[in-house]
Amino acid sequence: MQSIFQTVGIVGTGAMGRGIAQMAAQAGSRVRLFDLQPGAADAARAALADTWSKLLAKGRLDAAQQAAYVAQLSPASALGDLSDCDLVVEAIVERLDVKQRLFTDLEAIVNEHAVLATNTSSLSITAIASALKHPQRLAGYHFFNPVPLMRVVEVIAGLKTSAAVCQQLTAYTRQFGHTPVSAQDTPGFIVNHAGRGYGTEALRVAGERVADFATIDRILRDQMGFKLGPFELMDLTALDVSHPVMESIYRQYYDEPRYRPSVITAQRLAGGVVGKKVGEGFYAYDNGTAVVPPEPAIPDVAQLPPVWVSPKAARRPELYQLLKDLGASIETAQAPSAAALILVAPLGLDVTTLAAVERLDPTRTMGIDMMLDDAATKRRVLATNPATRPDMRDAAHALFARDGKAVSVIRDSGGFVTQRVVATIVNIAADMCQQGICTPKDLEVAVTLGLGYPMGPLAMGDRIGPTNVLEILFNMGTVYADPRYRPSPWLRRRGALGLSLMHEEA
Ligand code: NAI
Repeated sequence: MQSIFQTVGIVGTGAMGRGIAQMAAQAGSRVRLFDLQPGAADAARAALADTWSKLLAKGRLDAAQQAAYVAQLSPASALGDLSDCDLVVEAIVERLDVKQRLFTDLEAIVNEHAVLATNTSSLSITAIASALKHPQRLAGYHFFNPVPLMRVVEVIAGLKTSAAVCQQLTAYTRQFGHTPVSAQDTPGFIVNHAGRGYGTEALRVAGERVADFATIDRILRDQMGFKLGPFELMDLTALDVSHPVMESIYRQYYDEPRYRPSVITAQRLAGGVVGKKVGEGFYAYDNGTAVVPPEPAIPDVAQLPPVWVSPKAARRPELYQLLKDLGASIETAQAPSAAALILVAPLGLDVTTLAAVERLDPTRTMGIDMMLDDAATKRRVLATNPATRPDMRDAAHALFARDGKAVSVIRDSGGFVTQRVVATIVNIAADMCQQGICTPKDLEVAVTLGLGYPMGPLAMGDRIGPTNVLEILFNMGTVYADPRYRPSPWLRRRGALGLSLMHEEA
């Protein structure tokens, strides 16, 4: 195979550099490995030879391919040995001054057409390139860990990067079978920016004591199909990695409220309770397995009260059908009887506000999250308000668990859990499109491959309906009077016009 880059230099042969070297060799390039640490390049070559041997043993490679890949790797003893490279990718320490110095040194070594690329995840490409005589030749080339398995690569254009350089890197990425996405040089690029909504909003929900960590995880897994709940995910990534990323992106966007980090993670980080790797995070770990608190038992209720549903409930016909299927006695009069359990199904508002506005008896009023079609979710979520009577809470819990479906009962919250978290994710993604950081299509691909979400954030918004997402955010803005919930113009306009969030202007 003729590679777009015949000879590729890798500087920094740690976890990331090795993975990138593997991809380059598999794309058919000769690969020169350089590391400041003596012996590190040789160790990287040996580790990669071992990786390919394992792939050979699994039948994923043949012997000739394996031998060819190993032969393509050569450790370099000095940076000057990279002079014949037509691409050099850097994966060294994450420090602007060190990276700038490396690229200035490289510029004096490689030929004038060579492309320079940085695997930085948090520094500005423009700032790294600013030290160069020819900043147009440097681009961001952001891989994810572990490189062979995370099949998305962000190609990032700095202010002066030439389009041709980005095109070459994009085409090269396809040669080793990964998916390239294009991003403008902005904090977090695509994946680390789009990922801000999930953890931060879940932390805010937990911070209000709406529900405990395990309940929030269960709700987001079962209602929306996330593989891991936000707290499981933070335990896996570890807070010494994820909290600084939250702070860095927030600060780089000049304290944009949408990205505001949480005191919960700051304090846990300070206390060393950072996650699975230390055996203690949002969950306790026993031999590497999370100790998950059991679900609260379904209350035993001898006689269920009749149920009255607010005329303003979301998906009211579906809620009626569900109540019928559960065998509830449904009241259809204009007002509830004195014995009735009163149900509201708000989008974005809290149960308390609805009880007050609709003049309902709050002691008998509960909320149910009807944002998603009940049949499409594996869990129902009910919310009390501060005045709800325990017998009414228990009756609602027992009723909605009658068919065996999981039920979580949470405290009052504008937007329950899933509405809040999903609307936040959608809004951040919409604003990234508004800012022109990437195309809607690249955003969807980057998030599904880079974060493993069940679908792209714009598709999530389209599934719920852009108008509904807009309503949720407007109402949450009312409940919380917090600018973090103000809708992006991208969402506001598409929601108002009933257009898909993928829609791009002509
Ligand atoms: P690592 O610590 O495993 O490897 C870094 C290597 O660079 C070490 O072998 C070190 O000896 C070498 N090195 C340091 N300064 C050098 C210099 N001036 N010249 C030559 N070699 C030098 O680190 P890792 O995890 O491989 O990350 C490297 C870079 O990749 C960082 O900039 C990081 O931001 C970026 N990155 C890391 C990701 C991750 O999940 N670890 C994900 C995406 C990007």
